Amino acid sequence: MSVVLGIETSCDETAAAVVDDAWRVRSSVVESSIDQHRDFGGVVPELAGRAHVATIVPVVRAALESAGLDVRHPAIDAVAVTAGPGLIGSLLVGLAAAKAYALSWDVPLVTVNHLEGHLFAPLLETPDLAWPVLTLLVSGGHTMLVYQRGPGDHEVIGETIDDAAGEAYDKIARWLGLGYPGGPPIDRLAGDGDPTSLRLPVSMTGDDLDFSFSGLKSAVVRAGEKRPDLVVADVAAAFQGAAVEQLTRKLRRALERYDVAGVAIAGGVAANSALRAAVAQIAKDAGIAAHVPSLAMCTDNAAMIAAAGLARFGRGHVSPLDVSADPNWALADVRP
Ligand code: KG4
Ligand code: ZN
Repeated sequence: MSVVLGIETSCDETAAAVVDDAWRVRSSVVESSIDQHRDFGGVVPELAGRAHVATIVPVVRAALESAGLDVRHPAIDAVAVTAGPGLIGSLLVGLAAAKAYALSWDVPLVTVNHLEGHLFAPLLETPDLAWPVLTLLVSGGHTMLVYQRGPGDHEVIGETIDDAAGEAYDKIARWLGLGYPGGPPIDRLAGDGDPTSLRLPVSMTGDDLDFSFSGLKSAVVRAGEKRPDLVVADVAAAFQGAAVEQLTRKLRRALERYDVAGVAIAGGVAANSALRAAVAQIAKDAGIAAHVPSLAMCTDNAAMIAAAGLARFGRGHVSPLDVSADPNWALADVRP
């Protein structure tokens, strides 16, 4: 049995986890520096990098200890680490730590694409899931539809042409004065609002599988400027309605073209209550499985990185110790 330590530091979470090749999460520790960034309306790269330096060693130690491993000489087969995409100063902290651990424990280093990591979240909660799966990968930096034939075998079939869904949530929340990150407060408020109080366009109604969120963001701001009487909860409800409608419309369209055994959502926006409910309904209507991961598995963690690393390690991928991070590493460029 292979056991892998995963390390994730691409944004504001410092995370470490131990996962085995039965897709069992033996431990998963996540520390976030989010409280340091809130006042700035977004993650401040310099602060995030410094926070990773301070927390990486204790977080790795905690993950090893809670998996019942010897922290000096853990019985692991490889160290998997996120090498991109993400903030370069943050990625380098995790990568440097992973290299040092791999070198001192004399085990292979496996670099992982952060987005490929997100694709493994559903598998960690349903180890025997049936393939293929259509996954809506929605985070703060990315929005894409991915056709997954199996673990590590995937194809990007649709992508945002401008902003990511999470980015739109964060920008609207900032404009409404709801703070950062914007997804959770908008999601909460939307439940109390009337989505019909303002009419918003559903973008990208064409035949393709791509997304666009910048027009929706501008439409919300324009509507708000014209009608200062609008209630914040109503704006949140209307925005969420239009955003989720666009995401699910494309998912339904993709289901007409791809014969799959299930649909999945992954990434931070997969924590959204309306999206979770809509995707579960789509799967029910199609008579296929819905993989809607727990909130902790949707947002950034290292268990998903360890899992992606396990799959890569199993296929013989090992990275040299002089490998560097790539802040713009595209999922489509990941070698299978
Ligand atoms: O995957 P993630 O943790 O980090 C990235 O890799 O980007 O995603 C963070 C994004 C943020 O934009 C945040 O506002 C959004 O996920 N998010 C949500 C919700 N919870 C987090 N968006 C909508 N509804 C939510 N409940
Ligand atoms: Zn992420």
